[in-house]
Amino acid sequence: MNTIAVLTSGGDAPGMNSSIRAVVRSCAHYNKKCIGIIRGYSGLIENDTKVLNTRSVRGIINRGGTFLYSARCEEFKSIEGRKKAYENLKAMGADGLIIIGGDGSFTGALKLKDEFNFPVIGIPGTIDNDLFGTSHTLGYDTALNTVMDAIDKIRDTAISHHRLFLVEVMGADAGYIALNSGLAIGAQEILIPEVNMSFDSIIKSLKKSKKSGKTSSIIVVAEGDKTGKNVFELASKIEENLLKYETRVSVLGHIQRGGSPTCFDRVLGTQLGVKAVEALIEGKNGLMVGIDNGKIIFTPLNKALKGKTKINKELLRMSQIMNT
Ligand code: ADP
Ligand code: F6P
Repeated sequence: MNTIAVLTSGGDAPGMNSSIRAVVRSCAHYNKKCIGIIRGYSGLIENDTKVLNTRSVRGIINRGGTFLYSARCEEFKSIEGRKKAYENLKAMGADGLIIIGGDGSFTGALKLKDEFNFPVIGIPGTIDNDLFGTSHTLGYDTALNTVMDAIDKIRDTAISHHRLFLVEVMGADAGYIALNSGLAIGAQEILIPEVNMSFDSIIKSLKKSKKSGKTSSIIVVAEGDKTGKNVFELASKIEENLLKYETRVSVLGHIQRGGSPTCFDRVLGTQLGVKAVEALIEGKNGLMVGIDNGKIIFTPLNKALKGKTKINKELLRMSQIMNT
C-alpha cells in the first residue's frame, strides 16, 4: 500500500474536511502518497485528481462542505463507468481508495471492490445518520445543532403569534435528525418514517395541549415521514380540523448540511480518517470505520448498508411524556 486515493461522494456533510485532512496527514505520517479525487466518482471517471500533502489541507478543519467537492454520479452506477474508474485508479498508481459518503457511495464502493478486487474503506459521511455500524455519521451532530438553533428561532414567532409550526427536517428515509432535534426543542409531536403516527392522534395531541393552555406548538416532521402526502398538505389538513390554530410550514432544507462542524464532528472526522488509512495499510478491505461508545470499530460495508439501524423509540416515548 504505497498510494492511497480519497474522495467525498453524495450529500456533503460537515466534518468531511476534518476527515480528508486526517487521511492526508496520516498518509504523510506513514510515508504514503495521497491522491485527492475531485467531485467523487465523477472525478474518478474523468481522472480529475490532485496530489495532496500535509500543507494542502491546512485551514480546512473548521470548514463545512468538502474541499474535494462532491457529486452524485450516474455513470458510476453502470459497470462501464466503474471500469473507467478502476482503470484510472490503476493508472494513477492507487493501491487503495477511501470513500467518505453515505449509503449510495458505499454501494458503489462495494461494487468496485467486488468487481475489480480493489481495496476500499468507507468513512460514514452523511447528516442522515442512517448507516449501521456507527452511532454517529460525520455531520449528524452539526446538523442536529443547526436544526436546534433554527427551530429555537422559529419558536419566537410561534409564541408571539400563537401559531402552530410544522418544521420539515432532512434525513431522507431516516428519522434521526427529526427525533433528536425534536426532543431538544420540545416538539409537540415528532413525525418520523420509522413510526407510523395516525393523523387522528396528531389532532388529539394538539387538542389536548390547547386545552391545557398551550398557545403555540411545534411539530417536527422528517422529510421521509408518510403521515401526509407532504408537509404542506399535512398542514392544510390540520388547519381544516383545528380551526383555532393558524398554521405555518417551514422547510429547513440545505442549511442543515452546511456550516462549520461541531467539535464532535471534527474529532470524529479525525479519528475515522486516521483509522481508515491504518486499515488500508494493515490490508483491511471492504469495511466501514465507525464509532460505538467512543470506540472505533469496523463493519463490513454490506452490513453497514443492509444492517438495520435502530431508531431509539424510547426517545419518542419520552418526548410524549414531556408533552403531558
Ligand atoms: P449518499 O452516498 O450520500 O447516500 P447517493 O445515494 O447520491 O449519496 O450516492 C452517491 C453516489 O454513489 C451516486 O451518485 C453514485 O455515483 C454512487 N452510487 C449510488 N448507488 C449506487 C449503485 N447502486 N451502484 C453504483 N454506484 C452507486
Ligand atoms: O443524504 C443527505 C441528504 O441531505 C438527505 O437528508 C436529503 O434527502 C438529500 O441529501 C438531499 O439531496 P440533494 O442535496 O441532492 O437535494
